[in-house]
Amino acid sequence: MLLSIKGLAKSFNELEVLKDIEVEIEKGKVLSIMGPSGSGKTTLLRCLNALEQPDRGIFTFDDGLTLNFEKKISKQDALRLRRKSGMVFQSYNLFPHKTALENVTEGPIIVQKRNKADVQELAESLLEKVGLKDKMNLYPHQLSGGQQQRVGIARALAIEPELMLFDEPTSALDPELIGEVLTVIKDLAKENWTMVIVTHEVQFAEQVSDEVIFMDGGYIVEHGPPDKVLKAPREQRTQQFLQRILNPS
Ligand SMILES: Nc1ncnc2c1ncn2[C@@H]1O[C@H](COP(=O)(O)OP(=O)(O)O)[C@@H](O)[C@H]1O
Ligand SMILES: [Mg+2]
Repeated sequence: MLLSIKGLAKSFNELEVLKDIEVEIEKGKVLSIMGPSGSGKTTLLRCLNALEQPDRGIFTFDDGLTLNFEKKISKQDALRLRRKSGMVFQSYNLFPHKTALENVTEGPIIVQKRNKADVQELAESLLEKVGLKDKMNLYPHQLSGGQQQRVGIARALAIEPELMLFDEPTSALDPELIGEVLTVIKDLAKENWTMVIVTHEVQFAEQVSDEVIFMDGGYIVEHGPPDKVLKAPREQRTQQFLQRILNPS
């Protein structure tokens, strides 16, 4: 088990967004998360990436790092948590005034203070991995949405995280650009990256996931292998949600 999450809770003012979330993330496995808008999916990923501080809960990592959010955790522990995962956002979040290559090298050079030449080499190989070696000197506005998101993936990989987090990585893309991003993520799964993916691409989730979670109202409603949760869901809320996204209108 790379990470075990127990009793995770998070509120924004009066609104309880995550209520007693329990999840185990296995090394080398892909966990997909589905659920309606507002169910807490992004907040869960942000807690994992130390972008939000949970109100309660315990994270236990396989290297011995244990974080108990009952008390405010130290800056140092928040940084340790942050460094464990690379996050790919719905809206790419690339620096507009930096090239694709500079977007990928930024984290390792500025934040991790790693050797520039090494990082340069790593970034080039990551851009090659996502099929963008020939575009590495272009700026985000010169790239399609699918290409920008692939830079986003290379950037997240560049910090050499233990865990990759994807927040609806294709939902901002034109339909014809979705496939190229999903292909890159499938390749990462083949390389046994540990990944948590929020996605509503049902067929993709079936192919790539070892486990699927369905969330609603801050709870995990259903949890299991994709051929159960996506093909034969037990819970009515999961059934209704899948019906809606598979047969819109
Ligand atoms: N920073 C915030 N301040 C206040 N409310 C927030 C904040 N972030 C998220 N929320 C609220 O928390 C709920 C869950 O949001 P989110 O985790 O983004 O859900 P999802 O990703 O499943 O759509 C929503 O009602 C949202 O409006
Ligand atoms: Mg979201």
